Amino acid sequence: MPDFARGPFPSTRMRRHRSHEWSRRLVQETQLSVNDLIWPLFIIDQPASESVPSLPGVKRLGTDEVVAAAERACRLGIPAIALFPATDTSLKTEDAIEATNPDNLVCRTVRNIKDAVGDQLGVICDVALDPYSSHGQDGLVRDGCILNDETIAVLCQQAIIQADAGCDIIAPSDMMDGRVGEIRDALDDHGHQNVQIMSYAAKYASSFYGPFRDAVGSSTNLGTGDKKTYQQSPHQTDEALHEVALDLLEGADSVMIKPGMPYLDILQRVKETFRVPTYVYQVSGEYAMLCAAAERGWLDRRQTILESLLAFKRAGADGILTYFAEEVASWIQQD
Ligand code: PBG
Repeated sequence: MPDFARGPFPSTRMRRHRSHEWSRRLVQETQLSVNDLIWPLFIIDQPASESVPSLPGVKRLGTDEVVAAAERACRLGIPAIALFPATDTSLKTEDAIEATNPDNLVCRTVRNIKDAVGDQLGVICDVALDPYSSHGQDGLVRDGCILNDETIAVLCQQAIIQADAGCDIIAPSDMMDGRVGEIRDALDDHGHQNVQIMSYAAKYASSFYGPFRDAVGSSTNLGTGDKKTYQQSPHQTDEALHEVALDLLEGADSVMIKPGMPYLDILQRVKETFRVPTYVYQVSGEYAMLCAAAERGWLDRRQTILESLLAFKRAGADGILTYFAEEVASWIQQD
């Protein structure tokens, strides 16, 4: 610290710069902008949309509405959306083979969105098998074990068909070891050198994903199962840095921390250590908590949402996946 000439109180009064709105604005260290937002969208293979009870205000978008949502994102200046399919139960199998069908719901939706909005909006697709597997796990299962290398082969196929459909960013959320490098090679071999990889690098085995699993319909498939043999334990912090380092070595263009608010320490350490584009996912449980408290009048909805997102920026996030993206973008646009 420099030697402050006049010393502490009463010469120094920290409240001086807080005493006017203009002056508070002037000293602002962190801002939230529309450019920071990624909007996750759930999609379903039927014309009409459906609501998701555990995610108030969020819908599984039907085929009639999803392109309109993407167009709204463009108009609001949201840079990117992330697509998550609620797969029809009849298509879920032990081997999750629907994940590699070039005409599956995600691929058709990517093509429709890209036809409508072109390069105005980045489209992100998850790579993991849980929307397609009858057991709700992100990988292939044999004798109760999640198979690493066999799963990666399927994930590579899934990444290729999504990139073929026009996906801009492949986001592996499965936490298999070594998948980023193999997906990079598979994309390159298929002419997709310019498709980015945003790795869910530090993804925790969290209980905050519950409403998401309702939304994609994987909670009943997963049952009492868990993902602790591949997602990180909430006890770990150095291990998150190791995960991020490996994904970057394997060719990830950007990394993600997930969940968000309970893991701000991880976000800050990752950003400080690696200084690469770092995203954070404000997950479904975080969204549901804020909505539930606001609904009861216990929290001010707008102020707490904005504060939660600003906290991510302060901790070092370059972008935030949030179900509030559309609402927040319209607030920012109004201001
Ligand atoms: C799938 C996936 C999950 C989320 C994003 N991709 C769920 C999980 O790992 O069980 C969670 C997102 C959220 O809770 O909002 N691999």
